[in-house]
Amino acid sequence: MRIVFLGAPGSGKGTQASLLKERLGLAHISTGDLLRAQVAAGTELGRAAKEVMARGELVSDAIVLGMLEARMAEPDVANGYILDGYPRNSAQAVALDALLDRLGMPVDRAVLLEVEDEVLLVRIAERARKEGRADDNPESLRTRLTVYQEQTAPVIEHYAGKGNLRRVPGIGTVEDIHARIRDALA
Ligand code: AP5
Repeated sequence: MRIVFLGAPGSGKGTQASLLKERLGLAHISTGDLLRAQVAAGTELGRAAKEVMARGELVSDAIVLGMLEARMAEPDVANGYILDGYPRNSAQAVALDALLDRLGMPVDRAVLLEVEDEVLLVRIAERARKEGRADDNPESLRTRLTVYQEQTAPVIEHYAGKGNLRRVPGIGTVEDIHARIRDALA
């Protein structure tokens, strides 16, 4: 199965993608994780992305698409994939369609995790205390939420228009949400 996860920062995309990856044997491709690995490794790409990510803004479409294309060429993707954090704006959605058409691996389902802002704020504050991610501070989070509303939310319509969008309430326990996602994919 080929899945795109959509949702605001802190909506649980990474958590749920990891669970589903284990259950279905899919490749979990998180552009945020790929970028953080580049930052940690101190590559040229990572140096270009570091400050942009810390501010909560989007890294350039060209950089992220290049990184995604390289990841999509790896063998595990042939079994199916979960995209987590991509596409994040309308241009990325169009570029993704073109890439996946070329690869013959179009998206089967887009899953939107719906979570109220109040819950997102609590989850991110909690992770900031535990893990100290560079963009988990109030100012960057405000930017991330604005970027989500202005640039990423329109991507929801992109998938709704194709008829493969599934909306899933993203509140409750991790296990309950996982069960809802599996129902939505059935
Ligand atoms: P990215 O890493 O994608 O971050 P994000 O979208 O802000 O998402 P998060 O990782 O914060 O949240 P999530 O929805 O995955 O939730 P999670 O499961 O972690 O992107 C980071 C940055 O990279 C971007 O701002 C941008 O700069 C750049 N970037 C990435 N992709 C890009 C792209 N395509 N184009 C351009 N730039 C890009 O959960 C959050 C927390 O809540 C965790 O602590 C978790 O344990 C907890 N939690 C999860 N579920 C529950 C639950 N049910 N109950 C209680 N707690 C829960």
